[in-house]
Amino acid sequence: MTDTSDIVIFDTTMRDGEQSPGASMTHNEKLALGELLEAMGVDIIEAGFPAASQGDFEAVNELARRSRSVVICGLARSTPGDIDRCAEAVRQAARPRIHTFISTSPVHMKHKLKMGANAVLEAVGRSVAQARNLVDDVEWSPEDATRTEFDFLCKCIDAAIVAGATTINIPDTVGYSHPEEYGALIRNLRETIPGADKVIWSTHCHNDLGLAVANSLAGAANGARQIECTINGLGERAGNAALEEVVMALNVRRDSLPFNTAIDTTKLAAASHMVSRITGFPVQYNKAIVGKNAFAHESGIHQDGMLKNAETYEIMKPEDVGVSKTSLVMGKHSGRHAFRDKLQSLGYELDGDALNAAFKRFKQLADRKKHVFDDDILALVDDQLSAVGERISFERLRVIAGSEGPQTADLVMRVEGELQEVTCEGNGPVDAVFLAIRAVVPHQSKLDLFQVHAVTGGTDAQAEVSVRLKGEGIMATGRASDPDTLVASAKAYIHALNKLEARRLKRVAS
Ligand code: KIV
Ligand code: ZN
Repeated sequence: MTDTSDIVIFDTTMRDGEQSPGASMTHNEKLALGELLEAMGVDIIEAGFPAASQGDFEAVNELARRSRSVVICGLARSTPGDIDRCAEAVRQAARPRIHTFISTSPVHMKHKLKMGANAVLEAVGRSVAQARNLVDDVEWSPEDATRTEFDFLCKCIDAAIVAGATTINIPDTVGYSHPEEYGALIRNLRETIPGADKVIWSTHCHNDLGLAVANSLAGAANGARQIECTINGLGERAGNAALEEVVMALNVRRDSLPFNTAIDTTKLAAASHMVSRITGFPVQYNKAIVGKNAFAHESGIHQDGMLKNAETYEIMKPEDVGVSKTSLVMGKHSGRHAFRDKLQSLGYELDGDALNAAFKRFKQLADRKKHVFDDDILALVDDQLSAVGERISFERLRVIAGSEGPQTADLVMRVEGELQEVTCEGNGPVDAVFLAIRAVVPHQSKLDLFQVHAVTGGTDAQAEVSVRLKGEGIMATGRASDPDTLVASAKAYIHALNKLEARRLKRVAS
């Protein structure tokens, strides 16, 4: 991007987003997401924190090797070891970037770093110079910038620019700022620091007060030309600026926000869906741009207006963000070709065995359910993709439920390829199913959340179940769907268990 009105979209779903409690992603999930982000036109992917764990290193490294034109960025603290490790991870990218940071606010320096201002200032110059010796593209961030004393912030940024930083990112780490203040901060920094015009200024806003997108846009209006964001606004605590909201705000309000991005907006819904599936975090129904209700019109007055002219109540078209207008799609007579076209329109490219397996499951579903909707197909494919390569998998389940107990689950699972069968009684059918899983795979984690939604309307709707497991300081969320609520519950629990194990192994390795 070269035009002065171009905004660089920096996606940090795999780094800051993955730092959300419970939002872990497996290696393969990161590769699939990387593929979609690059196809969508994201300029920079922050793929992870290579020094944090072997798993992070490998994911960043493989994303770097696979990248075509997107910049692959790794995060590093200001220590020499972190920066070397990061450089090694991104080295094979077509366009590698190191993003290094250190806290600059009084509260962080005193309590977190236990370092004085001079030591921090010295670390800035040293770390950026080291990174710049390893790659040409170096981003530097003063963590907690919005609570940093202005003169000290200027000194640190000046040191980073002198040492060779090419992008200066201003994190509102704790989501404390508001638009007017954040915009003024970017403007004042650009006006005060001598080398300001040699670097790209970037926003990184957290959403603790629900202002992350507004702050990012205020940053752009005041000269920032990179916006850091995540799909679905995933991220630490209340999350980051949501990529889909930033991009569509720029797109729809070009009249007063005259900036371009390279994003293919028709892929936004697919990206949102993929991140929700991977992390097990449902998208809130009324979420802007990608929520289920974002284009739904309920009241009579609104529906009447929509029928007369969609512009009465819609400021963008559902198709612009990749939401198809018709959702009644297929039935048991639909062929393989139509199924594949449907998957493509929903943002999935499946071939070979994966396509065959999905088509088989679609036919099974169509036998049980008269109308198969887009949401059914998405749920079905999501389940299949989530299960790829899992150590523990679901085979079959028979449950005795009802008022005449004992409620009993007869469950067959596969653990590392071996079939295992168990029968358990429980205090209700869900308890019996979960106890059966625990009997096959003993574990300490506790059930932290169990949620059931209907994927579509109707009594034959599929149930979508979310399960969150928590233990030993780790959390993992699993999600699955099935016309049978208990089967969906078992699959969701097993999905969460696989993720929890992967997370635990990652922690042990780091
Ligand atoms: O929020 C923050 O300050 C960060 C930095 C590491 C950029 O994520
Ligand atoms: Zn952050």
